[in-house]
Amino acid sequence: MTTATIPATTERHAADAQAGPETRSAIARRPLAAVTGAEIQAPLIQGGHIRYANLDYGASAPALSVVSAYLNEILPFYASVHRGAGYASQISTSVYENARTIVRDFVGGRPDDAVIFTRNTTDSLNLLAGCLPVVDGVHSGDVLYLDIEHHANLLPWQGVPHRSVIAAPTLAGTLDLLRGELAHGGVSLLAVTGASNVTGEVLPIRALAALAHEYGARIVVDAAQLAPHRRIDIAADDVDYLAFSGHKLYAPFGAGVLVGRPDWLDAGTPHLAGGGAVQDARIDTVSWTTGPARHEGGSPNVLGAATLARATQVIADLDVDQWHAHENAIRSFLVEGLARIDGVTVHQIFSDSASFDAPTVEGPGGGAGTGTIGVVNFSLEGYDAGLVAAYLSAEHGIGLRDGRFCAHPLLRRLGLPSGSLRASFGLGSRLEDAKRLLTALQQLRQTGLGWDYVVDAGRWVPSNDTRTYPHWAPNTPGTAGAAPCTLD
Ligand SMILES: Cc1ncc(COP(=O)(O)O)c(C=O)c1O
Repeated sequence: MTTATIPATTERHAADAQAGPETRSAIARRPLAAVTGAEIQAPLIQGGHIRYANLDYGASAPALSVVSAYLNEILPFYASVHRGAGYASQISTSVYENARTIVRDFVGGRPDDAVIFTRNTTDSLNLLAGCLPVVDGVHSGDVLYLDIEHHANLLPWQGVPHRSVIAAPTLAGTLDLLRGELAHGGVSLLAVTGASNVTGEVLPIRALAALAHEYGARIVVDAAQLAPHRRIDIAADDVDYLAFSGHKLYAPFGAGVLVGRPDWLDAGTPHLAGGGAVQDARIDTVSWTTGPARHEGGSPNVLGAATLARATQVIADLDVDQWHAHENAIRSFLVEGLARIDGVTVHQIFSDSASFDAPTVEGPGGGAGTGTIGVVNFSLEGYDAGLVAAYLSAEHGIGLRDGRFCAHPLLRRLGLPSGSLRASFGLGSRLEDAKRLLTALQQLRQTGLGWDYVVDAGRWVPSNDTRTYPHWAPNTPGTAGAAPCTLD
């Protein structure tokens, strides 16, 4: 693996952010921040190598180089946390506990908000599902959610009393539908994504929080996609709970986090019964502790939490104008280019997501804003999405996501039951990645596939694939993509 040596660029981009539109789009010619692995070479099916164009940030983003360096710095001190009197244990414990404060600051948390480290966003939302208020063994309300959600923010609620709403074709209409459902009463929690992992459209979380509270419900925001792209301030937006993952936020090791009001969490069922979660345990009884430890039984992912926290510091230091200019320039270039390719359709959920401004709350679009993040969803007429993804990888060294994005209800409703394609990008991306995608799609349209492809274990792969992987990645190239999420 190669580490790019591009500096974190504040000076270089400052002039760009001040300049006119042409110069501003120059921002996108370079990564906004250095990421580890930016220069890795992907083998091509026809022979030779090319710089890997990573357009799959929405699945897992590459580690920021600053975060990789930090990891190397703390790794020698890696030891058990909370339980050791030794020097390394004390340092690891300090790093781990300090990570909570850093993450709380990053999301604008209230002083008493709990910060619980988890495996990922999925884990965080499952944890919250176990903490919904229960009176005399009965849940005191329903969880309300939309049909646009990632399974992580949909399936945990199916196991508790719930109601779902099919989103309207507009954000404005969707807010109305949610209002109508909330007005029936009996909703304890509104669970909503901050940004769609399918289309990148941002939801107005401040307006949604105000709506939930108007009807006595709380709100949890699935910020897995939002946090890597927008500033979040849960105190200002009055969001009760927020969940996100480190691996989408430029931190390796996949830790997640749940931040939010401590009362439900302190009363809820411990998420992982075990060491560290108790005040006292007898042979057949236990008194659970409160605070984050209640839900973090067992040895925690200290490096996951530490790198997640370090990544939030880098993101917090970004100049917001530059950050958004960089991402918007790549996105608009890609969307405009896709529109020029015969047979390509770009998918979106809401017709007003570009212009929506929540009317009843202060602030643009409600807190983290509206619009779109660095995610573009599309399909190419006449081609299976999985085949296009295999072609892009094998013949052009481009990585993006195909399938149903763990959002089956939405894909079905969008008329894409067998999936579509998703290009996603972020701090380490450059305009050239989008250009390469457009060129490859044009080529596919004009001259067709340059290789034969077959379906192997449910996934399109090039036939007679002789490319090799590094010796420490022993899967043969044809099968490496056939992960359990293939049909997701
Ligand atoms: C919007 C959204 N929510 C939740 C998740 C689940 O995240 P994780 O896999 O880190 O649990 C994802 C992952 O793609 C996502 O995009």
